[in-house]
Amino acid sequence: MNHLLSMEHLTTDQIYNLIQKASRFKSGEQPLPQLDGKFVANLFFENSTRTKCSFEVAELKLGLKIINFDTTTSSVSKGESLYDTCKTLESIGCDLLVIRHPYNDYYEQLTNVNIPIANAGDGSGQHPTQSLLDLMTIYEEYGYFEGLNVVICGDIKNSRVARSNYYSLKALGANVMFNSPRAWVDESLEAPYVNMDDVIDSVDIVMLLRIQHERHGLVEEARFMKDDYHQKHGLNQQRYDRLKPNAIVMHPAPVNRGVEIESDLVEAPKSRIFKQMENGMYLRMAVIDELLNK
Ligand code: CP
Repeated sequence: MNHLLSMEHLTTDQIYNLIQKASRFKSGEQPLPQLDGKFVANLFFENSTRTKCSFEVAELKLGLKIINFDTTTSSVSKGESLYDTCKTLESIGCDLLVIRHPYNDYYEQLTNVNIPIANAGDGSGQHPTQSLLDLMTIYEEYGYFEGLNVVICGDIKNSRVARSNYYSLKALGANVMFNSPRAWVDESLEAPYVNMDDVIDSVDIVMLLRIQHERHGLVEEARFMKDDYHQKHGLNQQRYDRLKPNAIVMHPAPVNRGVEIESDLVEAPKSRIFKQMENGMYLRMAVIDELLNK
């Protein structure tokens, strides 16, 4: 694996290998490799708490040296292109780039960059490490993907998490369904749109998404009031009580409590939201090891 850019580029064998490596790091079965002497730069052109911090913890645990790159004080503010920024970091000896960027497929302009790139989210395109940590969490729970019924609820059209998980879960044999307001339907993804109340008692996984306000126009914003969204598409106590005993609730976070999920349910017994974050650090260690420890 030279880069990690999109879940569409990974084979199912590569997905299983990354999940299993992350699980071995988590259990202590596999000692953490030490990549001392290697440099990484984390380029976050969009805000992040989980992805940025868990990449940083993973990098430090693997002995990497983190280049202190800040998008607000870098020469990007003087008009330097993303390509020139990345080539500069490569030229001064950086070994790995972790990039989050608001443009879909930003990495297509970086084909002449000769160091590995880990995509930490591109616009509404893909979020491969989020998908992989979601898969790790599901695998921990069930031990398989084939035949699992997954409903992904929310802002499908604007969500890179929905897109990455759609491709990876389908490739692994899960049945993916969507639930979304009409305006956020993504016609390019071939999965049935269902009513939450029709499927809530038969699904194995409810995956909730944040409304991507930052990618909407004002007219669209006004159309969906918070309470209306919560009532039609959110997870409330009534719906939670109808879930199968072994069903789980997931959310990539950040969570807007009271919108996509009732606040008290964020840490309910079936919720795996903080488990997903815990797994994210181990999964990102596995990705870094795969990209650097050839
Ligand atoms: N899930 C996720 O990508 O969260 P952050 O935006 O905080 O990184």
